[in-house]
Amino acid sequence: MSRDNFPRLSAEEAAELIPHDCLIGFSGFTSAGAAKAVPLALAERAKRIHAKGEPFTVRVLTGASTGEDLDEALASANAISWRAPYQSSKTLRKQLNSGEVEFVDMHLSHLPQAVLEGFFGQMGFAVVEATDVTPDGRVYLSTSVGASPTWLEYADKIIIELNSAHSPRLAEMMDIASIPLPPHRNPIPLFHSMGRMGVPFVSVDPSKIVGVVKTDQLDDGTEFAAPDVQSSKIADHIVEFLVKEMKLGNIPKDFLPIQSGVGNIGNAFMKGLGEASQIPPFYMFSEVIQDSQLDMLESGKLLGASTSAIAVSQAKLRDLYEKMDYFTPKIVLRPQEISNNPGIVRRLGVITTNTALEVDLYGHANSTHVAGMKMMNGIGGSGDFTRNAYISIYMCPSTAKGGKISTIVPMCPHVDHNEHSVQIVVTEQGVADLRGKSPSQRATLLIENCAHPDYRPYLRDYIASAGPGHIRHNLERAFELHVNLMKTGAMLPNGG
Ligand code: COA
Repeated sequence: MSRDNFPRLSAEEAAELIPHDCLIGFSGFTSAGAAKAVPLALAERAKRIHAKGEPFTVRVLTGASTGEDLDEALASANAISWRAPYQSSKTLRKQLNSGEVEFVDMHLSHLPQAVLEGFFGQMGFAVVEATDVTPDGRVYLSTSVGASPTWLEYADKIIIELNSAHSPRLAEMMDIASIPLPPHRNPIPLFHSMGRMGVPFVSVDPSKIVGVVKTDQLDDGTEFAAPDVQSSKIADHIVEFLVKEMKLGNIPKDFLPIQSGVGNIGNAFMKGLGEASQIPPFYMFSEVIQDSQLDMLESGKLLGASTSAIAVSQAKLRDLYEKMDYFTPKIVLRPQEISNNPGIVRRLGVITTNTALEVDLYGHANSTHVAGMKMMNGIGGSGDFTRNAYISIYMCPSTAKGGKISTIVPMCPHVDHNEHSVQIVVTEQGVADLRGKSPSQRATLLIENCAHPDYRPYLRDYIASAGPGHIRHNLERAFELHVNLMKTGAMLPNGG
């Protein structure tokens, strides 16, 4: 039997199989490897059903965020009722902040186990992009692994999007292994960023594959603008800090693996690290690799990368596919349960770098909720890495929205990473090294080294007005800046 013996479906025929209120596990970790044709067809189907006055929504799980064809298309068709664990779609963001969609913000490494343990109920369909599927049920994934192995194992039925735009040689980068559920779990045998413990495919029961949909479309990967002045300054500060730590002997001479978060600032930081002659060639143990990391692999600055997704622009992906002989030994693609595994992060001594929306005077960081209320994207993998980092670094510009917002605030109205896990905070103003510092020392460092000069007098005055205690606060003023922002559109409406 060849793969052609699986029922060949159009995307529309596949979408017709999925019932109202179905829990679907889609492939995708960023737009990398995301299902493309079936979600679009499902969105169109939802619109047709809604036009008849009938309900049609689905509950959506993916590895992390997705491309335009998935979250954005389904949300625009009002076809999502429940979503986890992460998203970055403008339309979906509006819907979950207005309460139209229920959203569960989760650590990405926790997701596969939570699903397999049945915490979210039965999964009707897995819709997974692949470069190949064999008659005996070997599924070769494309540019991301994410949680697809879990969806393929757990779902009642499987639809494969067989995408011919991707290189089948991606299989050479795959290291797919599953971790047994507790209490049958042994130590994970990974002792180096580039270690391998699995096989290049996911094995599924072929009788669960109800259809194969052919596609021929690359991921709609992000292209980053050149780093702006602020991001470049942040990158310079971090590089300077890391060089100093090496000189002090706090970081070994052959360096440690780096994790870098998604987004503009993360991309700028990696570019800065790539150009820093004082930093030796190093490895990454991260959840995504972006354009700048492919450049660094080519220049030799990056020796290899462990990741769950190759989240690069289309131009970079084409380039990668032309140079597979060079790149395949240098990239390992893993399930997110392993790429983000806190135990491995601790074992390898990963230096983690993530972006915060705001950090408070004692080192609590908010990565997710604007003013404590409006969800931006989600915690993603930042908590998986931060909590067990060798050194955990948080970065952000000292102000947002043209200076109307200070990212150094008296108290964060939402906390994703607490004072016990956040070690270094960096803005374009400078570095606050919070290691070994008491709360009052932390506050001074964050005000004097990281806050924007326009906000320093307010923050000093806040501390002066705070009551006694180990962590000193003035509860009547703790959220004064946020309240000002909501009332007037600026944290210091009169300039302080
Ligand atoms: N209050 C309100 N808005 C804020 C803000 C604050 N304190 N700080 C930043 N913003 C806004 C910016 O103005 C910008 O808005 P815009 O898109 O309208 O221009 C937006 O948030 C993004 O900020 P930016 O400075 O461009 O940084 P980024 O692209 O690196 O994103 C996060 C920052 C925090 C949103 C992003 O890193 C994230 O979602 N992190 C959580 C998940 C994570 O860390 N994953 C990595 C694990 S590998």
